[in-house]
This record gives sequence, C-alpha cells and structure tokens, in this order.
Amino acid sequence: MPSSFYITTAIDYANGAPHLGHAYEKVLADVVARHMRMRGRTTYFLTGLDEHGQKVQQTAQKRAIEPQVLVDEVAAVFRAMLTDLNISNDDYIRTTEPRHKRVVQDFLQRLFDKGLIYKGQKTDWYSTRQEQFLTDKDRDPDGSWPEIYGEVTQTTEENYYFKLGQFQPWLIEHIKTHPDFITPRFRQNQVLEFLKEPMNDLCISRPKSRLTWGIELPFDSGFVTYVWFDALTNYYSAVAEKGLWPADVHVIGKDILSPPHAVYWPCMLKALGIETPRQLLVHGWWTVNNQKASKSTGNATNTLGFAASHGADAFRFYLCREMVVGQDADFSATTFENRYKADLGNNLGNLVNRLLNMVGRSYAGVIPAAAADEELEQNLRKLWIDTEKKFSADFLEYQLSHALEALWVFISAMNAYIEARAPWKLAKSAEPADRARLDSCLAHVAEGLRLVATVLTPVMPATCDKLLINIGRPVATYFDGQLAWSNVCTGSKVAEKCILFPPVEPPSVIAQA
Ligand code: MSP
Repeated sequence: MPSSFYITTAIDYANGAPHLGHAYEKVLADVVARHMRMRGRTTYFLTGLDEHGQKVQQTAQKRAIEPQVLVDEVAAVFRAMLTDLNISNDDYIRTTEPRHKRVVQDFLQRLFDKGLIYKGQKTDWYSTRQEQFLTDKDRDPDGSWPEIYGEVTQTTEENYYFKLGQFQPWLIEHIKTHPDFITPRFRQNQVLEFLKEPMNDLCISRPKSRLTWGIELPFDSGFVTYVWFDALTNYYSAVAEKGLWPADVHVIGKDILSPPHAVYWPCMLKALGIETPRQLLVHGWWTVNNQKASKSTGNATNTLGFAASHGADAFRFYLCREMVVGQDADFSATTFENRYKADLGNNLGNLVNRLLNMVGRSYAGVIPAAAADEELEQNLRKLWIDTEKKFSADFLEYQLSHALEALWVFISAMNAYIEARAPWKLAKSAEPADRARLDSCLAHVAEGLRLVATVLTPVMPATCDKLLINIGRPVATYFDGQLAWSNVCTGSKVAEKCILFPPVEPPSVIAQA
C-alpha cells in the first residue's frame, strides 16, 4: 500500500448557499482522510469551489457586481461551513486562482497541439441551465426534455471540440479491467450502459459572446473553456507541483458520475498521457423529510442548523451513520434526535459517566487494574477483536455506516456487561472476589471506552478527544499499536464527570412537508 493518500471532494458550485449535500460530502471525505492519517498514511485532502460559468455570471450581473466579488463572498461562506464542521482539508482550491488557470490552459494547449481539439460548427439543442448541448438521447421517453435542463433551444455555434469519441474503447476496457475504479460496484453498470452508445466528441469551448466568466482558450481568445473541463482539472492543478498525482479517491455524488467523472475526466487524462485517478467513490442523494433537498424550501441548508445546536460531532456522526455510502438517505429532525439521544446520549455518554462516577466513588478517581478474568470479561475482549476487524474492513471500503453499526454493537455489549456485573452492588460487598470483579469491571469499561474513542476519533474528533482526556488518557493521533486490548488505563486519573451529549433544544428549522 502506498504511504501517501490523496483524497478530494467535488468542488461546489459558487452559485448558492452551502447545504446538506455539500456538507455531507465534506464530512465523508474528512472522516476517511482523518482515518487514513491515523493509519499513518501521509494524507492530502483537497476540496474547493467551482467558480466559473454562466450562472455565476448571471447572478453577478443581477446584483450589479463583478463575478470575482461574488465568488469571493461565496467562498467565504463555504469555507466557514468547513470550519463549522471541523473539516481537516489540507488545501482549498478555487478555479479562479492563477495556479489553476495555468494548468487548465496548459491542458488545453497540449490537447490542441496533439490535434485532439478541433474547431467545428454545430446546430444543436442547448440547455442554458446546464450550459451544455444536448442530444436526443437526453430526452425523456415521451420526447420532452428532463426538468434539470430548464429551457432548451436550438443554437448554431462555432466551437472547439475534444476528440472524446476516440477514447471510448479504451475507457470501456479501463472500467472493466479496474473493477474498483467506480465504487460502489453497482454504479459501474450505469456507466457501461452509457458507453454502449457511440460517444460524441465533447464541446469544450463557449464563445465569449455568450460567456465571458471562464478561462480563456490559450489558442483562441474569442472563447472560454467549458466549465466541466475547467472544474475537473482542479484535482490535478492543486497538486501539480506536489508529486501527489494520481488521486487515490475522488468523492462525488451520483449525479456527477456519468459522464463528467467517469467519462470526460479519465479520457481527458488519457489524452494528455496522465495517469487516471484510482477510484471514484460515489455517494447517494440526501432528501429532507423525504423530499428533494431543494433550494426553494431552504430545508437542505437549514439542516446545517443541527451542527450548531447539537455540535459538529453529533452532526458528523448522524450523517455517517445514517447514509449507507452509495445509497440515498433521508434527513429528518426525528431520526436526528433519536440518534442523538439513543446512540450518543444513552449508549455512549451515559456509559462514560457511569465509569467516572464509580471510579470516583470507589477508587478516588484512579482506574484500577483488572483482577478477575471471568467469562464476561473474556467475551467482551473477544467481541472487541471481532469489532475492530469489522470496523477496519468496513472503513477501508468506505462503509462508515456499517462500521459504526458494528462499533455500537460493542458499546451496547459494554452496557450489558455493566448491567450483568452490577458494580454498584459489588461496591457494597466485603468479599475479596467481589472486589476483584469490581476492579475488573471498571478497568474493562475504561479500556473498552479508550478503544472506542480511538477508532471513533476520525468521526467525532472533538468528542473523542474530550472522552479520552476525561478518562485520563492522551488524545488519539494514530492507530498503530493502539487498537489491541491492553491495560494502559490502569492508574489513570479520571475526571469527576463529563457531559458529552447534553440535552439540547433542536433548531426549529426543517419545515415539515
Ligand atoms: N461543481 C460541480 C462539481 C465539479 S467537481 C469537478 C457540482 N457542484 S454542486 O455544488 O452542485 O455539488 C457538489 C457536490 O455535492 C456533488 O458531488 C453533488 O453530488 C453533491 N450534492 C449536492 N446535493 C446533494 C444532495 N442532496 N445529497 C448528496 N449530495 C449532493 O456538481
């Protein structure tokens, strides 16, 4: 396994407010990035903003400001979201930056010089909303244009085309011989299905008469480049001088898999003689109260209020636990509060407090050494070994929800262990055997919590730091040698009490349908 790990998210469009979809993708990538760092891999985590295109130009015009002023504003809002969610990105790329423009123009020039970009004229259907030409394949079965395209009109235009079509056989072969390229696997079929039809060449320019807010073609100043050609290049331009290419994972939503990431991007790179990224991790779509996360209701943006009310960690946990990567998921205040109260408050938070309480009362706050080793203790340790294996395996496949589910089975088992051991009764007994059981019970719960907090740190960094500090342990920064059951907690001085998940009033922000 290579020691470096380069992960990216899609770069968000600079034409609206950040919402749940943007937030989720950053959290997913952040959790994976933090996990990889703790595995000892030199990780580079990139996210950013997609700032060119017609919509930005139009919005700026409406507000009578320069597009650059608009995108600077939007960038500040998106970056504030990253801070609010405790996202640990190493870099933030904006497509208006000179370091990016340089690479886009270099790509265009190289393709032009190789004869892979040519000038042509076409009369075609054009969607202003999507800023792309359409073909009859894009129509609904009844012949109408799907709503996502907005108004569609016939337009004749001279433009530059990238010879995408000639890479089709290579791409099909590449996808078939790299079964992990598109993850989860079932998404591959969608792409291969798309590739059954002959692929057209890709129009990669827009005449300046129609769009000026873009990167100029280096070989024709009458045109700017198509936003997708511009945007996709960010993954490369950000690290062009860092020797980090190819990317290990591009985290993207299902709507931008095919054709942009699964077709245009690998073909662009192939044409340039650059290695393709190793993997596309494709997540599903969030709905809010089972409704499309649309801008009009504001619901998708308002969900971010839960990070403010319940804390970024609870929000991160909810998103990772609730969405099975690859499938769609629904956000609702009810499921959020259930997870907050049950999974976090009752299952984890109370367990921590029970431990602190009893160690405080019976051992003056110092965690005892395990003395008895009976079946209950052995079972708990065995369960940890299985849990850790499953957790790691799920994580490496980006199945965070399954990993967390397994971890909570273990946390529940610790609660059941405490119930069975009833340390509050043992504390009253004068029998030496009972004292030994009490020692063991508290030592085991402390150790179990240490292990849980260690593997959970990438998901809930601040909470896990706090948990570890409260049980007298250093915060977890790496996994190596830290995931085996040990007795390192013995002798640690614990805090008197620690409220990890206080009861809070939910924000009254998500309108019911
Ligand atoms: N700018 C392009 C991406 C260029 S990448 C070279 C774009 N931007 S976007 O702002 O519309 O979306 C950014 C990411 O958020 C995409 O991966 C998209 O799938 C994701 N999401 C947007 N809404 C979403 C949901 N409701 N649910 C989950 N993710 C969704 O596309």
